[in-house]
Amino acid sequence: MRILHVVGARPNFMKAAPLLRVLRARGIEQILVHTGQHYSANMSDVFFSELGIPVPDINLGVGSGGHAVQTAEVMIRLEPIVLDLRPDLVVVYGDVNSTAAAALVCSKINISVAHVEAGLRSFDRTMPEEINRLVTDQVSDLLFTPSPEADENLVREGVSTEKIHRVGNIMIDSLVELLPLAKQRPKNGFPEQYALVTLHRPSNVDNNHVLRSIVDILLEINNRLPILFPVHPRTRQKIVDFAIDTSALCLMDPVSYIDFLALQSRATAVITDSGGIQEETTFLRVPCLTMRDNTERPVTVSLGTNVLVGHNRARVCQEIDKVLDGRAKVGSVPPLWDGHTAERIADVLESKNRIPVDRVLVDVAAKHI
Ligand code: UD1
Repeated sequence: MRILHVVGARPNFMKAAPLLRVLRARGIEQILVHTGQHYSANMSDVFFSELGIPVPDINLGVGSGGHAVQTAEVMIRLEPIVLDLRPDLVVVYGDVNSTAAAALVCSKINISVAHVEAGLRSFDRTMPEEINRLVTDQVSDLLFTPSPEADENLVREGVSTEKIHRVGNIMIDSLVELLPLAKQRPKNGFPEQYALVTLHRPSNVDNNHVLRSIVDILLEINNRLPILFPVHPRTRQKIVDFAIDTSALCLMDPVSYIDFLALQSRATAVITDSGGIQEETTFLRVPCLTMRDNTERPVTVSLGTNVLVGHNRARVCQEIDKVLDGRAKVGSVPPLWDGHTAERIADVLESKNRIPVDRVLVDVAAKHI
C-alpha cells in the first residue's frame, strides 16, 4: 500500500506526525507532500523537527495568497504529482485550504481520500475552514472522526456510515508524547500566573474595529492577570496596519510546539480563537475562553474546560474572575482522546488494504530520517 500524506499549515503538522510514525513502523510505503501554505521557520520548520516529521519528499512551495489563489495553486501543483505517483490513498488533515484543495484533486482522478478530523462543524459558513470541512468530507472515502457529534454531522449530510470511523483525536497523540518534554522547559522568567492568548481568525483580526475592541478587552484583563501573547503573522500584520497600541501587552513571535505546550500547561487561563487549542486545553484541564460565538468542537464545551465568550467584555471579565476565584469550570477528557488514535487509524487502513501483496514496498519517508 502506498500512502501519500498532504500537509500545509501549522495545525496539520501535529496531526500528521503520529500517523506517519505508526505507518512507518508497520512498513507501509509513505510519501509526504508539504504544500508550503505555511513556510516560515516558526510556522513550519520547527514543528517538523520537534514532532520528528521526516523532511517532505515534495514541497509545492505555494506560500501565501488569497483563498482562490492558494487553493488553486495547491490543486495545479499537486495533480501531476499524484498522477505520476499513483498512491493507493491520499490522507488529508483538518480544515485548512491545503486540505480541501488536495481532497478535490484526488477525488476527481479517482484516488481514494482519507480525511483525518472529519465531521467537525461550526455551522458558520462565513468561516473559510467550514467550507473546507464541508467540501473535504463530501469527497472523502474514509472519514476519521474524533467524537460522536462529528459522526452525527456526517450522517445528517448523507455520508454513508460505512465510510465513518470514530478513532478519537489524533492531535492528543502528539500532546501525550511531547508533554513530558514540555514540562521540562524552563519558565523563562514568565509570571507564575498568566493568561495565554492566541488570535488569528479573520473574523477577529481582519477588521480594525473588532481587533481594537478585542485588544481593549485584553488590556483590561492584563491589569488583573498578565497576558502572554504569541502573535500569528496575520494578526501581527493587522496590528501594524491598524496602528493599534499593544505596548502594555507581552507580545512575542509564534513559538514552537513544545514551547507552546509548556506555556499552555502552566497557564492560569487561555484566551483563543483557535480550534486545536480548545482541544488541547480540554485535555490539559486548563480553563479556555474562546473568543468566538460558535465552535466546531462542542465536546470541549460539553465535557471540557472551554467556554464561548465571543467579544463580550463583561463575559470575558466574569470568566477570568471565576478562574482567579478558583471557580473555573472543571472538565473531563472526552473518550478516545488517549494518545492511541494513530494506531486505530492504521488498523482501519490495513483492514481496507486490498492491494496485491507482490507490490514492491519501499519506505520513501524512512530514507529522510
Ligand atoms: C491558516 C488556516 C487556519 C489555521 C491557521 C493556523 C486556512 C483557510 N486557514 O490560517 O485554519 O487555523 O492557518 O495558523 O487554511 N504567514 C507567514 N508565514 C507563514 C504563513 C503565513 O508570515 O508561514 C502570513 C502571511 O502573511 C499570510 C498570513 O500569514 O498572508 C495568513 O496565512 P494563511 O495561510 O493564508 O492563513 P492563516 O491565517 O495562517
